[in-house]
Amino acid sequence: MASRGAFSNKLGFILAAAGSAVGLGNIWKFPFEVEAGGGAAFVMLYLVFCFVLCFPVMVTEIAIGRKTEKNAVGAFTDLGFKKWKVVGMLGILAGVVILSFYNVVAGWAFGYFIEMIQGNFDIGSNFGGFVSDIGKVGLYGIIFMLVTAYIVSRGVSGGIERAAKILMPTLIIMILGLVLYSFTLPNAMTGVKYYLVPDFSELNLRVIGGALRQAFFSLSLGMGALITYGSYLSKKENIVSSAAYITMFDVGIAFIAGLMMFPLVSYNSGGDMSNIQGGAGLIFVTLPQVFQSLGPVLGIVVGSFFFLLLSFAALTSTVSLLEVPVSYAVDEYGIKRNRAVIVTSIIIFVAGIPSMLGNGYSAFFSNFITYIGAESPTDFMTFFGHLADILLLLGGCLIVFFAAHIWKTKNLNAELSEGYPAYEGSFVQKFLDFTISYFCPVVLGVLFVLVVLSNFFGISLIN
Ligand code: PFF
Repeated sequence: MASRGAFSNKLGFILAAAGSAVGLGNIWKFPFEVEAGGGAAFVMLYLVFCFVLCFPVMVTEIAIGRKTEKNAVGAFTDLGFKKWKVVGMLGILAGVVILSFYNVVAGWAFGYFIEMIQGNFDIGSNFGGFVSDIGKVGLYGIIFMLVTAYIVSRGVSGGIERAAKILMPTLIIMILGLVLYSFTLPNAMTGVKYYLVPDFSELNLRVIGGALRQAFFSLSLGMGALITYGSYLSKKENIVSSAAYITMFDVGIAFIAGLMMFPLVSYNSGGDMSNIQGGAGLIFVTLPQVFQSLGPVLGIVVGSFFFLLLSFAALTSTVSLLEVPVSYAVDEYGIKRNRAVIVTSIIIFVAGIPSMLGNGYSAFFSNFITYIGAESPTDFMTFFGHLADILLLLGGCLIVFFAAHIWKTKNLNAELSEGYPAYEGSFVQKFLDFTISYFCPVVLGVLFVLVVLSNFFGISLIN
């Protein structure tokens, strides 16, 4: 049998996994979640969730993958629990659902890069026109999927790891450059203050739930992406410290993205932070206006730089999303990697067409579903986003429950001790034993139920 591939060392693994984690979730979504959640109060909560809830799930996923050297589905069978492969199947489904719409937004980011190079700043005020221009959006979506597919087709060390080793350091340099630049603009500090001074009055259960969900999505958990990446990690390496680095990397980039974003927004509004636009608009509507005000030359440089950065961040995430079904097809059906890449990317691209159409082009997909108790319909992409949310929470809950209570903590701990001989008996072990066995499955299970009720049935218990 042909080799499945492997990361060449710990750094390669960490960069690839951090590449999966750092994406649109960090640079696009995190800042406006912070804005909605009361600034620094939200950031502090987010940090706690990342380390107390998400880090243990990450460790578990990587350990299951490395122990079995199998994809998200095969891993469960390989451990001897055939029925549990349904958890892996859910993960594959989540991967397909997420990548189908994630690729569309990544295509927008790339499209904006092309528009910025041409100095077309008006694109910001015409965001609605852009996303409903199906010719353009389709083309950018195809380009993004082709680049993703190309990287994945080159294999683990030659494709995924190599791309991460180039893109991640570039991304860090670009984002730091933009932070420094944005600090020099008038009113920058008003934005920074807004971002960093906590306002606990806006903290409520909804915000807390939102922080948890955001942390989970941002760390690429709950769908077997890290089971898959973990399956390519050498037994020599320390899983626990690797997961800690990946978490810090992701949290760090999200935090820095806020440091870049709020000064730009504050500059644009002349220091008035009372009425800033959240949601998709923060990046796709407000920022082009900011870039325009920098003048033609500087505006083009900074603007195209920003959207290229966003595209790079998205690319290492789309790569990890595609690798999940690809490695499943390769391991379980013995299909050649190239062929698996072609088939899965076509399926996923097609599954993404309703998301492309549902932003104004097609009335049907733009008003796809009206949830019970809702007054207005939800578009297809948002619907898929909600579906993804619950699949990840359910998947994460089942993965930790499985590891602690079905596969058993002692087996998990034996795997974690490989590459970390001092693990057994350490404080970290006690912390992880407790969180993986009880804390994470309970919190994720409860959150899953609450999110299903509030997203789909309009029953909000967390207001
Ligand atoms: N973590 C990515 C982001 O924050 O943009 C999104 C993601 C990638 C989620 C890979 C899940 C996944 F498996």
